[in-house]
Amino acid sequence: MAELRTRIAGLEMENPTMLASGILGQTGESLFRIVREGGAGAVVTKSIGLEPREGHGSPCLLELDNGILNAMGLPNPGIDSFGEEMAVALKAGAPVIGSIFSDSPSNFAALARKMEGYGAAAVELNLSCPHAEKFGLDTGSDPAKVAEIVSAVKSAVKMPVFAKLSPMVPDITAIALAAEDAGCDAIVAINTMRAMKIDIDIGKPVLRNKVGGLSGRAIKPVGVRAVYEIAGRVKVPVIGAGGVYTGRDAVEYLMAGASAVQIGSAVRERGIGAFGIVSAEIAEFMKENKYKSLNEIIGLARGK
Ligand code: FUM
Repeated sequence: MAELRTRIAGLEMENPTMLASGILGQTGESLFRIVREGGAGAVVTKSIGLEPREGHGSPCLLELDNGILNAMGLPNPGIDSFGEEMAVALKAGAPVIGSIFSDSPSNFAALARKMEGYGAAAVELNLSCPHAEKFGLDTGSDPAKVAEIVSAVKSAVKMPVFAKLSPMVPDITAIALAAEDAGCDAIVAINTMRAMKIDIDIGKPVLRNKVGGLSGRAIKPVGVRAVYEIAGRVKVPVIGAGGVYTGRDAVEYLMAGASAVQIGSAVRERGIGAFGIVSAEIAEFMKENKYKSLNEIIGLARGK
């Protein structure tokens, strides 16, 4: 089997697949299983905030033809209750990346400090939730605010800092460059996209929050484009996310310039084994096409 072990922003991973934030990332037990039974190279927790939060209420998740529409509303137990979950997750032996959200640089910094204290290998700044007032695009679409948050977090912790970006901005590379200039160690692209489903029999939006974030196959071309554009401008690694279901999807992101991929929606379809399956499919693709290392593939479509 082709060598899939990789190192991204100092994180050692058995393979280039990670659990995306938002799916099965709220308990240590599920994070542990995603590594040990599922074969993920790393896991990202559900986004955690300073205080416990209930979220938007049901219905908050819909399966659509080509993806999943969710408006969870950042439900989470609050950072002070998350240490026990982290302790369980860490026992799996893979890097655990703590996803955090907030509305100010100082609160982001406080959350990151706690995540570092819990043993996180890195912190992922959720700057891009498309349906939670104050906590997403208000900050994530403004390069100056993104830079301020990244810089506050970098001053607060020693671990690597990742910035997760939204594609719903005129120029995602401007946001990525602002994050990189402020010191961030990797860019994650993309978060879900603002979308809606209407029940035509009752004439109303289906989601309680009306608007949600679309993930899955429908957004893969957007994610691949975003990674391609970002990887052409930044020096830090880019982690691709959005619609990775198969090894071929992952290779497409790698060829666009991603160094690793995150998998979320596919877990509902392929089960928690999705990470091991996608990794085996990447290895198979490499063997069939005589690629010896991931580095030969990363950025190939860009002409490097
Ligand atoms: O509602 C949620 O928990 C989703 C967060 C996100 O899309 O970043």
